[in-house]
Amino acid sequence: MNTRDTLYADNDGQLVIGGCKAGELVKQFGTPLYVMDEKYIRDICKSYYKVLDEKYPDSLVCFASKAFSCKAVYKIVESERLGADVVSGGELYTALQAGMSADKMYFHGNNKSVKELSEAVAAGVHAVVIDSLYEIDLLDSIAREKGKTQKVLVRVNPGIDAHTHRFIQTTRVDSKFGFSVSDGAALDAIRAILAKKNLAFTGLHCHIGSQIFELKPFKIAVDKMTDFIKTLNVELGCTVKELNMGGGYGITYTSEDKPLKPYQYVEAIVDRLTEDIAEKKISAPKLILEPGRSIVGEAGITLYTVGAIKDIKDVKKYISVDGGMFENPRYALYEAKYEAVLANKANAPATETVTVAGKCCESGDMLVADAKLPKAESGDILAVLSTGAYNYSMSSNYNRNSVPPVVLVNAGKAEYIVKPQTYEDLVSRDVCPTYLSED
Ligand code: LLP
Repeated sequence: MNTRDTLYADNDGQLVIGGCKAGELVKQFGTPLYVMDEKYIRDICKSYYKVLDEKYPDSLVCFASKAFSCKAVYKIVESERLGADVVSGGELYTALQAGMSADKMYFHGNNKSVKELSEAVAAGVHAVVIDSLYEIDLLDSIAREKGKTQKVLVRVNPGIDAHTHRFIQTTRVDSKFGFSVSDGAALDAIRAILAKKNLAFTGLHCHIGSQIFELKPFKIAVDKMTDFIKTLNVELGCTVKELNMGGGYGITYTSEDKPLKPYQYVEAIVDRLTEDIAEKKISAPKLILEPGRSIVGEAGITLYTVGAIKDIKDVKKYISVDGGMFENPRYALYEAKYEAVLANKANAPATETVTVAGKCCESGDMLVADAKLPKAESGDILAVLSTGAYNYSMSSNYNRNSVPPVVLVNAGKAEYIVKPQTYEDLVSRDVCPTYLSED
């Protein structure tokens, strides 16, 4: 386990998160429970601005809210000076409800609906990130109807094969995202935007993938984007005021992962951009970064109660917990690896290798394959680490399980930031046609 000042085992072998003992959290809030470490989130945000304030002050960090969207998290990141990347009407609404200024939001998506684009323009989002030719006409007419000129960035696919899982890679040539630079599609899209009265071409966006551990793909992306900026200066005579380099910085899920410190990715991007600006003689764009996973991922820990234990002789030992793919679908989707600890026996040596299974009616419903644990007993508390990103945000009600509540911990205090979902909540939108009620 990667310990830190807000995550460690105390002398009694109890896992302590944000100054709260796991056992106490479970007594108060039950399981399964998502726990988010507020200080960790704030520290990461601060570490990004430490680099940017010093080296590239004309910049904005936007939290990629798809990693974890709820009001409290928007409030926390905004108080650390971040804006947000929103990708649906729901994320936009949640961020607005949290009081975040629309002027610090970028609206993404490869197929935004008319309703979503209208909402984005009406709210006054700073920029819509254009991802298709279809969207150019649509957004221009929506902006015209509202008597506005909407700033837009263009999502560019620089064609980089960053080393990560196929489903979370985004800028290989074959991708549903962005306009390719190499075949001229990006240039054509910008030409089309410049011809629109109610759109203001403001800059470029790229996102090369997620959970990337190397700096090289980010540096290559900066080179390719600045080359393209130069091309736009020369061919279309237009300036690029903003350059949004997306997110994607890798985090630690297990001890096999050895990411750099999150701020080192920012430093590499900024340094290369500064060099390229000087070398290519382009005017310095405002730099936007969009990390999601690196801000909330390691901040999250999910607590479970161990239930059924099944030891299949000479085959495998299954430890089943009260969660599963409805609250963390990442094993089922990507065979994602996680590390688990017994939160009430955190100092006991690991003596067995087990598979942590969820409670859903599905054979692939696993949470941790090959977890190294002390001997677990029913009733123990199991903690899965680094679950803050893309767990709650990808949860579902599969098997009519309730999405677990989320508790924010800091300096020994714990409070709900997402309340428990009740059985009544589960049926609250169900309706039966009247003929089903007739005798
Ligand atoms: N910006 C854009 C346009 C993105 O599409 C993404 C992630 C990000 C920023 C943030 O990337 P991050 O810093 O979080 O890596 N569900 C997958 C991850 C999908 C990421 C989608 N886009 C998972 O659970 O690993």
